[in-house]
Amino acid sequence: MSDGFSGWNQPPGPGAFPPYPGYPGAGYPGAPGPYPGAPGPHHGPPGHHGPPGPHHGPPGPYPGGPAGPYSGTPSAPLKVPYDLPLPSGLVPRLLITITGTINPNPNRFSLDFKRGQDIAFHFNPRFNEDHKRVIVCNSMINNNWGKEERTAPRFPFEPGSPFKLQVLCEGDHFKVAANDAHLLQFNFREKRLNEVTKLCIAGDITLTSVLTSMI
Ligand code: GAL
Repeated sequence: MSDGFSGWNQPPGPGAFPPYPGYPGAGYPGAPGPYPGAPGPHHGPPGHHGPPGPHHGPPGPYPGGPAGPYSGTPSAPLKVPYDLPLPSGLVPRLLITITGTINPNPNRFSLDFKRGQDIAFHFNPRFNEDHKRVIVCNSMINNNWGKEERTAPRFPFEPGSPFKLQVLCEGDHFKVAANDAHLLQFNFREKRLNEVTKLCIAGDITLTSVLTSMI
């Protein structure tokens, strides 16, 4: 692939970033199926938040009315901050796909992969840090932030625009793609992957879907 990056990323649609909402996002060619023990698609009305219950798969007629991929009605956004439980922790080949829209006049948003109160991986796009846009990656251990990594070669987020973020857990690093193009890697600092059991998504975005799969 032209971005030097193949095998896990979905090919972009012909000439365009696919429309939202309703973009499936889960159709990884060759994906063997859901992450064992993982909650699967999170795509539903506000309030459907927290540990997965019986409401797996396409949302049904929850209070608030039917919504989802088969109803012809756009799903309601997920509540932000949003916590995704990762019951088995992280494991190589686990792919997390997040779709949403950047709010108008954003300041920042973040993904936090957490081991208890520690943050194994903090991914933090900032829209106005001294009038510059920057992506900050870091970890937080025992309440102390580590060394920031600010090496992303571009800033792929625009106020008011939809985005797709994919985080792939590999053997010794996370790989992040935005809108189907590789963005950055973050080497593991926390090695106890199985204890990283929560993803927290927060900040100035509207969240459409959060999906896990194994590739
Ligand atoms: C701090 C900020 C935190 C986090 C951290 C990353 O300045 O308050 O929210 O982004 O930087 O190094």
